Amino acid sequence: MDIDEKKMVDIEEEIRSLQLDSGDATEMIDETAQHEELEKVDKMEEDSKEEVHNQAVEVEKKVKEKENSALDEEATFEKELPKKRHLNVVFIGHVDAGKSTTGGQILFLSGQVDDRTIQKYEKEAKDKSRESWYMAYIMDTNEEERVKGKTVEVGRAHFETEMTRFTILDAPGHKSYVPNMISGASQADVGVLVISARKGEFETGYERGGQTREHVQLAKTLGVSKLLVVVNKMDDPTVNWSKERYDEIESKMTPFLKASGYNVKKDVQFLPISGLIGTNMKTRVDKSVCSWWGGPCLFEALDATEIPQRDPKGPFRMPIIDKFKDMGTVVMGKVESGSVREGDSMVVMPNKAHVKVLAVFCDEDKVKRAGPGENVRVRLSGVEEEDILSGFVLSSISRPIPSVSEFEAQLQILELVDNAIFTAGYKAVLHIHAVVEECEIVELLQQIDPKTKKPMKRKVLFVKNGAIVVCRVQVNNLICIEKFSDFPQLGRFTLRTEGKTVAVGKVTGLNFSSA
Ligand code: GTP
Ligand code: MG
Repeated sequence: MDIDEKKMVDIEEEIRSLQLDSGDATEMIDETAQHEELEKVDKMEEDSKEEVHNQAVEVEKKVKEKENSALDEEATFEKELPKKRHLNVVFIGHVDAGKSTTGGQILFLSGQVDDRTIQKYEKEAKDKSRESWYMAYIMDTNEEERVKGKTVEVGRAHFETEMTRFTILDAPGHKSYVPNMISGASQADVGVLVISARKGEFETGYERGGQTREHVQLAKTLGVSKLLVVVNKMDDPTVNWSKERYDEIESKMTPFLKASGYNVKKDVQFLPISGLIGTNMKTRVDKSVCSWWGGPCLFEALDATEIPQRDPKGPFRMPIIDKFKDMGTVVMGKVESGSVREGDSMVVMPNKAHVKVLAVFCDEDKVKRAGPGENVRVRLSGVEEEDILSGFVLSSISRPIPSVSEFEAQLQILELVDNAIFTAGYKAVLHIHAVVEECEIVELLQQIDPKTKKPMKRKVLFVKNGAIVVCRVQVNNLICIEKFSDFPQLGRFTLRTEGKTVAVGKVTGLNFSSA
């Protein structure tokens, strides 16, 4: 191992200390009759305005009681209905590894795309001289993506296996779109890391500057606790289901995954597939195609992924990733803590808008309530759509999420652009759950010795690549975040500049006087 490589491994090992696992995902959706009564909505809106403004205190008192009684009700309900759990899965990996193709194939194999549509895509792909991209067209829906053969926006789709309802988030692999990948990964509990086994492609994706490493490190930082590493394009003529190639990729990836903080035995599973042909996906690969694989297929592996349960009774937290107007203001996001029910009174932070929940939707279905891990759309009254920004957080009234413009954090510096030094005055873009904000490091407080994990004695004025440092970070606007130790999902972040991830970190303290 040369010195550079050794340094890289050291850095990677340090990342581990920042990338602690977080408990995740529970399911608790109750599907109700899908009727929508406009009159009722109007009335609720009027009611809620009055109620929210005049009875805010009363509401606060009731929140706790209501939470408890609803949970009792839930317990009874859960006994009556066999329900599938829900998981968000993000597809990550280097550009052209086959993420969209594999995602599209999953939808095809689960019967959501008919042959005629596939034929249409085949023709369209051919017309654009992108013959082999037709499966990716299922996920890549906009013209730019289809013409260039590259995902830009995170594609979203749903499918079910025997035990689980999945939301697939198809992230872009191209380095220009890493911010979109971050937003996709921050919503997911499970990652499918797609690696191309084609000659030369694994190598390009894995080397420095390739997105394989960056995606893995980001995924871990953003709370993706389990990884399925799919070694894709096994059908390619340069691979032809070669065991040697598969083993080579597994053995090269394993130390890196370990260094990124994954427990490879517990949290990672490798498997070979062909996303394009659909081999070893819904059913296990035939021995005539691949004699040496005795493990699961992709659907089985996804279904068997265990995610630690999150507390549905915790204070409600849902970072808003998008919003629109539809008979009220509809906000979208993933529930990170607690539960939401139709009729609840909540608060949108940081602007402290008191709102009433008019309806809750999971996927396409209207539901009575939703718990941690669910992707939901929530229709609210009491707030205008234009007063909400992505990164705002829908919260419980009794324990709203803190909002601050300054916080303390422990940062792991990865690789600074042009080997710059990291010092007070350093500016970068902060990505924390759905928040994207310019930030400035205002003070370096302590450097941590990477070996002993203890603070170093001498005062620190600047640090370089690979350092671990505790510092004060400021943003211009109020942001809603939590200490990592309280809510890992809302307290871990990345700093990026000039299109590169320069540091990952966790929030260690909130400065309330800044609020
Ligand atoms: P980005 O969105 O740009 O990051 O790429 P992606 O990872 O979504 O890759 P995409 O699905 O667009 O596929 C890229 C190319 O790889 C296309 O030409 C696919 O046909 C090809 N490809 C994907 N999966 C397979 C596979 O299993 N076998 C073979 N032979 N080719 C594949
Ligand atoms: Mg894609």
